[in-house]
Amino acid sequence: MSGDETTIKLNPSKLGTKKYWDDFYEVEHSNFEENQDDTGECWFSDADAEDKIIEFLFSNFNQIESLNPEAKICDLGTGNGHLLFTILEEGWKGELVGVDYSEASIKFAKDIADANDLDVMFEQSDILDFKDEFLVKNTEEFDLVLDKGTLDAIGLSDSKYGDNGELSAVDMYPQTVKNLVKKGGLLIVTSCNFTEEELSILILKYGDFKVWKKIDYPVFEFGGVKGSAICSIAFMRL
Ligand SMILES: C[S@@+](CC[C@H](N)C(=O)[O-])C[C@H]1O[C@@H](n2cnc3c(N)ncnc32)[C@H](O)[C@@H]1O
Repeated sequence: MSGDETTIKLNPSKLGTKKYWDDFYEVEHSNFEENQDDTGECWFSDADAEDKIIEFLFSNFNQIESLNPEAKICDLGTGNGHLLFTILEEGWKGELVGVDYSEASIKFAKDIADANDLDVMFEQSDILDFKDEFLVKNTEEFDLVLDKGTLDAIGLSDSKYGDNGELSAVDMYPQTVKNLVKKGGLLIVTSCNFTEEELSILILKYGDFKVWKKIDYPVFEFGGVKGSAICSIAFMRL
């Protein structure tokens, strides 16, 4: 990892490619077809990330207008849709939409929703593509936009963006994703590859967000340095 105000870079890996995720969800989908109790991997479950995010949402109701039981949520890089299914089961009343660039993920998440009669919508979308149909049609549509592990995967991509290929995938992320979030709404990013400081630099870079609150995780200490294995930050759209 190298990082300063302008560049925060992870080494590219196959986890940063669409092919990796297509293959991954094809396998998970076929496991599910054999056994409908097997709904696949839940990222960061060892850190209880999903419960922490949900507890954060419920315990902060009505502190800001966009955080209420009827808020409209979009989950970026939803994978198997597990986070949204759990939010629904906890009694969420607002619309829930999951997007992922992997068609295999969307097919898998839709099949889980159908099999369990869960009212969650899923759409294929590349969240780094300004011209993506979902992004264009949902400008400032969502009160809350969630990301668990998706920016981490994006940070491992070596794709280039911008007219002259001058932007990295993580540079694109805040510029495209901001379009989905209502003014005053929240983008809540959960990461294991970026520290709180790096995450803040990445998201605040273009001046469209400010840090609203952070979710607390257990802190460990190693060699005199304190840190958490993962972090979640709620950024408010300005
Ligand atoms: C580590 S997985 C996390 C999945 C899910 N959020 C979870 O917590 O289980 C990363 C996800 O990001 C998706 N993804 C990566 N780049 C994307 C992009 N440009 N647009 C949409 N989804 C993307 C992948 O397909 C994959 O589902």
